[in-house]
Formats: sequence, C-alpha cells, structure tokens
Amino acid sequence: MNIKNKNIVITGGTDGIGLEVVKKLITKEANVIVIGRNQEKIKDLNIKFFSCDLRDGKQIIKTTQDILREFPDIHALLNIAGIWQKKDSVENIDDQVVDDVISTDLTAIIKITKRFIPSLKAQTESAIINVSSRSGVVAGLGQSVYCAAKFGVYGFTEVLKLDLKESSVKVAGVYQGGINTLMFAKAGDVAVPYQTFTNPTDLAEVIVFLLTQPKNIWISDIRIER
Ligand SMILES: NC(=O)c1ccc[n+]([C@@H]2O[C@H](COP(=O)([O-])OP(=O)(O)OC[C@H]3O[C@@H](n4cnc5c(N)ncnc54)[C@H](OP(=O)(O)O)[C@@H]3O)[C@@H](O)[C@H]2O)c1
Repeated sequence: MNIKNKNIVITGGTDGIGLEVVKKLITKEANVIVIGRNQEKIKDLNIKFFSCDLRDGKQIIKTTQDILREFPDIHALLNIAGIWQKKDSVENIDDQVVDDVISTDLTAIIKITKRFIPSLKAQTESAIINVSSRSGVVAGLGQSVYCAAKFGVYGFTEVLKLDLKESSVKVAGVYQGGINTLMFAKAGDVAVPYQTFTNPTDLAEVIVFLLTQPKNIWISDIRIER
C-alpha cells in the first residue's frame, strides 16, 4: 500500500516498538493517528493523539467514535499496544494482572478492530496488522496469562483473514521474540536476557514493510525467532 496521506491508526504508538513504527510512518508522510495514554514521547511529533486506556471498554467506544468522526476513512489499523506479565506460575499471578493483561493484549484488540472494520472495508485498499508475539504461537515457561492473550490474538487474526478474505482489507500477524523495550521493566520483571534481544527499530522496519507491500503481494505472517 502506498501510505502517503493515508489515515493509519496505531495503538501502542507512544513507546517501544509502536513509537519506532510511528517515526517511520511519519517519514513516509502517512497521517498517523495514535491511541495511547502517555503523550510524553510523542508530543513533538506531527501526529494526531487520542487518549485512551485500552483496559476500559467505555473509553474504547468513545475514542473510536471520536476518531471516526474526524477521520471517516481509515486505511490501516496497527494493533501494537500490549503489556507483559511478570513470569511466574499461574497460582501466584494476581487477579488484577490477569485482568490487565487480557484486557490490554486481547480484548482491546477485538473491540478496537470491530469498530474500524466498516471504514477499512470502504477503502479500495486497507490493512490490519496485529502484533502478537512468539508467545502467541509457542508456549513460554511462566507466561500463562501473556500466552493466553497472545495465542488469542493469533486466533483472532487467523479468523479475521477468513472473514475479510473477500473484502479490500488485508490482515497480517506479527510473532516476534524478545525486543529491547521497557515492556518487561514496566511489569517488574528484571530477569530478562536483553543481550539476546532485537532492536525495536528493526522490528518497526518489518512492520512498515508489511504495510507497504506492493499491491498484489501480501505476506500475512511474520515469525521472528529472535
Ligand atoms: N518487547 C518484546 O520483547 C516483545 C516481544 C513480543 C511481542 N511484543 C509485543 O509488542 C507490543 C509492543 O510492546 P513493546 O515492547 O513496544 O512495549 P512498550 O515499550 O512497553 O510499549 C507498550 C505500548 O502499549 C501501550 N499501552 C500499554 N497499556 C496500555 C493501555 N492500558 N492503554 C493504552 N495503551 C497502552 C503503551 O502506551 P502508554 O505508554 O501510552 O501507556 C505503549 O505505547 C506489545 O503488544 C507486546 O506484547 C513485545
């Protein structure tokens, strides 16, 4: 897709991988619309920002309505926002962590996506890219809740591919391993092998490549082992 002047909605664009994607989209002159909480790292960027806590279904309804009112034509949706669950056996994981991880990493993607699909379908060319994780296709020790959410994103993405097959909306899933961001630290996890991880700008390059594939080519899965 040629993304110049196209309206691209991105969750998780305020930090980490999503922030790097936002910077690359700006250089390609896309019209970037970020859904997020903390505006600090993007305040100097030329983007539209909509404040929303993705754990709150009411905020999702209001935010998506506000965006569609201002930008009726959405050409791409990049679901990147997500949080980590500090590794532990499930019996030790607090219910609040369960709720936060499932609502942020899975429920929000479904609720946001369903609200943008009518606009995406109305375009001649459009795309949804869901960032899951390697933990969305391979079980990880101590990652029960995170894997439950990320395997859920995998299932949701696969069904979207079927449901939208006859439409203009192309769907892709991204399943990467460790990336050097603050995601683990934010969840209080310190035992993280950062030295084996990938730079977020490299993954951002891959996500933007997916979005900007030539018209008659669609790579719909990216699996990155490290
Ligand atoms: N880092 C890795 O090793 C890795 C590996 C595989 C998959 N992933 C996935 O990649 C995605 C991005 O991760 P990252 O490493 O870039 O993490 P990050 O640096 O912590 O960034 C997470 C992003 O998600 C947003 N977010 C989190 N909770 C939110 C909420 N309740 N409401 C609104 N926005 C919220 C944050 O926004 P605010 O700052 O505005 O709160 C931030 O922009 C996630 O889905 C993650 O699961 C990461």
